[in-house]
Amino acid sequence: METKILPVSEESIQEAARLLQQGQLVGIPTETVYGLGANAFDEAAVRSIFAAKGRPADNPLIVHVAHPEDAEPLCEVTDTARLLMKTFCPGPLTMLMKRKSCIPDVVTAGLPSVALRIPSHPAAHRLLEVCGLPVAAPSANTSGKPSPTTAKHVLDDLHGKLPLILDGGECQVGLESTVIDLTSPIPTVLRPGGVTPEMLLTVLKEVKVADSVLRPLREGEKALSPGMRYRHYAPSGQLTMVKGTPEHVEQCIRRHADEAQRQGKPVRVFAFEEHLNAYQGLDAVSIGSRKTPEKMAHLLFKLLRQADDDRIPVLFSEVLTTDGIGLAIMNRLARAAAFTEIDADSEAERNP
Ligand code: TXA
Ligand code: MG
Repeated sequence: METKILPVSEESIQEAARLLQQGQLVGIPTETVYGLGANAFDEAAVRSIFAAKGRPADNPLIVHVAHPEDAEPLCEVTDTARLLMKTFCPGPLTMLMKRKSCIPDVVTAGLPSVALRIPSHPAAHRLLEVCGLPVAAPSANTSGKPSPTTAKHVLDDLHGKLPLILDGGECQVGLESTVIDLTSPIPTVLRPGGVTPEMLLTVLKEVKVADSVLRPLREGEKALSPGMRYRHYAPSGQLTMVKGTPEHVEQCIRRHADEAQRQGKPVRVFAFEEHLNAYQGLDAVSIGSRKTPEKMAHLLFKLLRQADDDRIPVLFSEVLTTDGIGLAIMNRLARAAAFTEIDADSEAERNP
């Protein structure tokens, strides 16, 4: 199958809507990452999403709708959900609610809940309005790879597996939506994203963050959100997070980079704008200022993909604190690094 990329226009959105109505897949820009969409009521179409991504069938999909009222026929919308929709939707928030029977099993992997999101990207919003269907869409990457934040990323992964990708430019947030479980007694963030726990607490009395957000699952532990089970967001190279005081971090990265380069392995460093100068002589790229973590969120997946394109086998990254959007960034970075981390301060003590 030939895959077309068309810039967003009323005409290309009409074409995308027709394809969805015919049971085909469409690459859709959203404010978080690109989605791989299909009519959520069409079981065969939804199955073809799993096939195109190589996604395990037990990992459920998010259902996207244009307006809060479109959620009512699909799930049991609670007062808490209504409050969150009023405050944060459209936007990067996905709510788990008890599903109604019109949602096919294949969408929810047989779970009793369905994940619902109202995207704010104008193209996604217009497409949902025009096609008049709930659209099931995971991120439009090959399973396990970093999510796509440009139409080109979608094409790189899924060329020949879908007829159309709508090109809506770079995704603004750059990380997938916050997933919050509203079926548990206390609303629980299963995947952090652009709507942060701090923001949720401005309207909810209590919010839990699943404690597996910043650590690997223990052996035999059940993932609350099935997507958190799999190795994720991973570049082909080995990424290591380096924490500590800026001076120790820089020395530590230099020491490990020298070692790798002696073995003939190219190295790349993801560094905050403020420290970029410290890495002269190394291939260091900016992840934006420490003061603007949204910039790092926006750039992260693009930089991970770029490192793959450039065939860089060894990567080091500076790290952030986990407040605000920092929680989502560190959740993705930790998974991309398979939780490999060096404490530069204790290393400095051992190697004075
Ligand atoms: O920003 C986003 O959320 C993007 C855009 C396209 O909307 N979509 C996205 O979908 O990231 P996906 O499939 O890559 O991630 C959805 C996550 C997975 O971790 C999945 O396991 C979880 O949501 N999920 C979906 N339905 C669930 C359910 N009923 N119960 C628990 N987790 C669920
Ligand atoms: Mg995904």
